[in-house]
Amino acid sequence: MTKQELCTLAIKSMNNAYSPYSGYKVGAALLCDNGKVFTGCNVENSSYGSTVCAERTAIFKAVSDGERDFSMLAVAGGKENELSDKFLPCGICRQVMAEFCKPEFTVLVVTGENTYKEFSLSELLPNAFSL
Ligand code: THU
Repeated sequence: MTKQELCTLAIKSMNNAYSPYSGYKVGAALLCDNGKVFTGCNVENSSYGSTVCAERTAIFKAVSDGERDFSMLAVAGGKENELSDKFLPCGICRQVMAEFCKPEFTVLVVTGENTYKEFSLSELLPNAFSL
């Protein structure tokens, strides 16, 4: 699984977004150390605070299937069917990543069909909270 392949899966997962309230679609693809991939999309709710982001959907799907060792996450977002080059993961998702992933964990943020920006988790969430 190349980085671009993981990004392409994240883009495809945008199609499953349930986002009638914001009109914003987000897709994520999470690569496990064992090679398995879990995808996720944002799932909104009329009680807005119940919305779950794409990144957390993918992470929670993986954890609930017994996977906790992750090597990379790709995420793509944008209004309706457009890919935004401004999208970045929200703070809650960064904190959830920090629960399971090392500071060096790679986050690929899609900027176009064949382009992405690469971040480490520690760049996205320096000095993460932990107990
Ligand atoms: N969203 C995500 O799925 N991931 C993020 O990191 C930021 C925001 C979703 C939540 C909501 O459905 C929509 O994007 C607009 O906030």
